[in-house]
Amino acid sequence: MEGYDLIMRKQIVAGNWKMNNDLSQTQSLIEALQSQEITSKAEVMVAPTFTNLLQACEALKSSPIEVIAQNMHFAENGAYTGEISADMLKSVGVKTVILGHSERRAYFNETDESLAKKVDAALANDMRVIFCFGEELADRKSGNEESVVENQIKNALFHLEAQAFNNIVLAYEPVWAIGTGETASPEQAQDMHAFIRQTLADAYGNEVANNTSILYGGSCKPNNAQEIFSKPDVDGGLIGGASLKAEDFFAIVNAF
Ligand code: PGA
Repeated sequence: MEGYDLIMRKQIVAGNWKMNNDLSQTQSLIEALQSQEITSKAEVMVAPTFTNLLQACEALKSSPIEVIAQNMHFAENGAYTGEISADMLKSVGVKTVILGHSERRAYFNETDESLAKKVDAALANDMRVIFCFGEELADRKSGNEESVVENQIKNALFHLEAQAFNNIVLAYEPVWAIGTGETASPEQAQDMHAFIRQTLADAYGNEVANNTSILYGGSCKPNNAQEIFSKPDVDGGLIGGASLKAEDFFAIVNAF
């Protein structure tokens, strides 16, 4: 595409620590992570809770592990009690934010509309976004998983210019697989990732589609990561439970 600077798609493994680990537990987990060796080419990220971001950023300053946030608000500042802005994240050293996690959608009423605003705010602040989406079990049972996923992506992202996708990572997380121990089969993951890439290609062309990383999330563990990551359209993983143990997390990171 002329006049368009492409960034090649990357392999990424990101640990979402969710609402786990106080300050000293965070310190212990970081120390355990630092004692592990990264043998894969994947970019490695961890997402501690807000109160531990500063500590994690400082502790991992000279490490290849990037510290990222689990959420942020779309407003720059103001009367939004309990919320955190892009500026606040950047001021402690965070440059990447997870948006649209299914737990945020289910328990905190995040919608495609509010997520579109959050995505815009993050990009306007030169942050990278890991944008999560995925169908519920009922959607898959009724054969609607593709249309649900397509709508989630279109509604929150397709107002963006092609160039914006340099700073967007997609994370397909079927809700029925998150924290349940039930993973999508490698074939189910590949089929959906190929569909997502095609959806991107239809809207923005093959180059954007081929250069956007698409992660899988949902009960990704050391014993299934390698097979899932071996699929051509799976560029890595967003890891919940297994990211809370350094050894398990690194077994997944090094599964590439
Ligand atoms: P899980 O969580 O690995 O514990 O299923 C994944 C996620 O919520 O990102």
